[in-house]
Amino acid sequence: MESLLLTSVNEPQSVSDLITQPPLAPAIIQITADEREEITSIGKYLKRKYGSYERADYIAALHMNAFRLLPERIVRLLNRLGTDFSARQYGAVVLKGLIEVDHEALGATPASWREMDKERIVEYGFISSLLHGAVPSKPVQYYAQRKGGGLLHAIIPDAGMAWSQTGSGSKTELFVHTEDAFLFNAADFLSFLYLRNEEQVPSMLYSIRSHQQDAAVLQPLFAPIYTCPKDANYAGQEAIGEGITTSVLYGNSKAPFIRFDAAEQIYNTEAGQSAGAMEHLKAFWKEARELIYCDFIPESGDLIFVNNHLCAHGRSAFTAGFRNEGGNMVPCERRMMLRMMSKTSLLHIQQVAHPYNPYLVMEEHYGKVYTSVQN
Ligand SMILES: [Fe+2]
Repeated sequence: MESLLLTSVNEPQSVSDLITQPPLAPAIIQITADEREEITSIGKYLKRKYGSYERADYIAALHMNAFRLLPERIVRLLNRLGTDFSARQYGAVVLKGLIEVDHEALGATPASWREMDKERIVEYGFISSLLHGAVPSKPVQYYAQRKGGGLLHAIIPDAGMAWSQTGSGSKTELFVHTEDAFLFNAADFLSFLYLRNEEQVPSMLYSIRSHQQDAAVLQPLFAPIYTCPKDANYAGQEAIGEGITTSVLYGNSKAPFIRFDAAEQIYNTEAGQSAGAMEHLKAFWKEARELIYCDFIPESGDLIFVNNHLCAHGRSAFTAGFRNEGGNMVPCERRMMLRMMSKTSLLHIQQVAHPYNPYLVMEEHYGKVYTSVQN
């Protein structure tokens, strides 16, 4: 059954399938009880051995630990995501039931990410980082998000940010976007580990691979004419930046990569798109919206692993702290998710990295580096 799951979505059955059937959904891999137990105990073991997943000696040995410790089936799966960028690759995979979450040890969901006791999520940081290590890819942090804020970010609905287009929002749909579409050096891979989703919020994924290869709406997106303001954590002129334009699609013309943020590039009235650029974006979005996959409702312990060049992510609107029980909204613990980002090459981000921390990306907006920060 498991091998069937592995091959059912992304494996072409024949050459003609490869050409005629774009992937429309991520593979959903059911993690076995043995694998889950193994992974959970690896997290505890690494916590005992290293204490912190941000320790230099742990990160330096990340790939060795990933290949040595993780179940082989999971390593192979992630290796494949790190090497297959073909027309048949959806660009995301769901690891269902990856870990056992100890809800008592985790405690109540804090008011926002600022109050998160990082000690309570250390094991999950080790597990997430090992998965990135298996790709292989190296966990990094971005000054543009939480001024770095560590390699693992708790994503928690924040009452004060409920209407925002950010991870802290809840009351509006978070439009699909590739992470940090306003940077040239955005993450290559993302992981989203769900500790709680009692509100039953569906996650959204959208893959550039889901279009027909010769879709007319794609070609204009290779032109470097599109603006992308910084995300909703910024406002006004600070968000618009220097008005640099770039392409939405790049790389192979038949199997492109994507850098796209629907909220910032289409719905942000201050984005400063030209009329022509907006026309192309809207034509593309009309087709893309129909290809969004939103059938997956993450449960506690599930993880979504994403190639940020192929697949955008988002989520439906929800009422934080309430779940629907037979038509009645009853209180529940608020949603909590852990995000990690990684780059496959540290060498290639050093022109925008912090001089004393090669894992901290200091890019502010399309190649521009923060200048007002003390190094
Ligand atoms: Fe995001």
